[in-house]
Amino acid sequence: MSEFAARRKRLLDAMGDGVALFPSAPLALRNQDVEHPYRQDSDLYYLTGFDEPESVLLLTNQHEEHSAVLFVRPKKREREIWDGPRAGVEGAVERFGADAAFPIDELRKRLPDYLGNVDRLHYRIAKDSDTDSILFDCLNQLRRGSRRGVTAPEVIIDSSVHLHEMRLRKSPAELATMREAAAITEEAHLRAMRLTKPGMREYEIDAELIHIYRQHGCERPAYESIVGSGPNATILHYRAGNRIMNDGELVLIDAGCEHEYYASDVTRTFPVNGRFSDAQRAIYELVLRAQDSAIAAVKPKATLEEIHAQAVRTITEGLVDIGLLSGDLDTLIEEKKYEPFYMHRTSHWLGMDVHDVGRYYLGGKHRPLEQDFVLTVEPGIYIATDAEDVDERWRGIGVRIEDDVVVTRSGAEVLTAGVPKTIADVEAACR
Ligand code: GLY
Ligand code: MN
Ligand code: MN
Repeated sequence: MSEFAARRKRLLDAMGDGVALFPSAPLALRNQDVEHPYRQDSDLYYLTGFDEPESVLLLTNQHEEHSAVLFVRPKKREREIWDGPRAGVEGAVERFGADAAFPIDELRKRLPDYLGNVDRLHYRIAKDSDTDSILFDCLNQLRRGSRRGVTAPEVIIDSSVHLHEMRLRKSPAELATMREAAAITEEAHLRAMRLTKPGMREYEIDAELIHIYRQHGCERPAYESIVGSGPNATILHYRAGNRIMNDGELVLIDAGCEHEYYASDVTRTFPVNGRFSDAQRAIYELVLRAQDSAIAAVKPKATLEEIHAQAVRTITEGLVDIGLLSGDLDTLIEEKKYEPFYMHRTSHWLGMDVHDVGRYYLGGKHRPLEQDFVLTVEPGIYIATDAEDVDERWRGIGVRIEDDVVVTRSGAEVLTAGVPKTIADVEAACR
């Protein structure tokens, strides 16, 4: 609770005068009357730890008594019998640190009291249309009150811009949670390496990963697992399908748990039978070299562009060495000749969202890394099955290696370093 309160205070201090509103994520129907599993909006959770739908957080430093107000579903025995307990207005105050709480149905009625005569409203318009509509009605009502001396906010500022900059810099508590997420994901990947054998289907491995996540109390994966065997490893956003994994093939697993609302995002590629073939080994070693060189470039002031450039250079160099490209290295890089084999970027921010928030550019330039940013480093090489200009022995090989990295004072800490990665360690983990 103190961590959440400190975050609210930091945001309020940065906001200056004004009122901020953060709506919950909407409930989503899956089909007929079945709902998708509910996950709270990351911004609202970051500020409160409150995980119920149909709620809104209001932060203000222009109210005499409260700075944090929660609008929530009130306790209601008939509904709680079906859906489980609610915190209710009492719980919102006692357990989630709100200074005041009201039933969500009262938002429309109470909002004008908080927004009247306030100049600056901090709100992300067009994210949640239900809250937009209540807010717009409130603004119109206040505008009509001008002859009575009531004014409506004149400035509307996107509340997420500053908040997302806060989320980009991880606190010690957040880093501790991300280390736990990484440890659970490590165990899941180790289990996948140990249990995979020829004849199994991809979805069986997905089930093994989820087994570990749930065993540790994780609510869900951070994203749907990618388990691509054989040529499926070359499909970047393939999901764990029903293909049978064959002797002699690689399987690429891109999977991570979400632990207490924090994502991990790890990719390992290993042989289904536990032994790399010569061609697989050559591609794998090259991707590993690229990842090592890219991770070595992670430090304060470096940019994601420099990290990507390092991965691209190592990959292009290696593709020349094994004969998949030929020509002058700088020209090949300049002309992006590596792109048929490496067509995605090397890094993204990681946090509560797997592709986490925070600006990638500042003033039109790649932003310099700072201590406590968390990012992935995930180069890969993918050789299409129909790449006719490529020697047949390489076709259908897809390798990606992905780790989660914290920027430290002078370099990098790899959160997921415990997941086997060298050829020897991977083969040992598969045995
Ligand atoms: N698993 C999504 C990604 O690697 O970006
Ligand atoms: Mn990934
Ligand atoms: Mn990733």
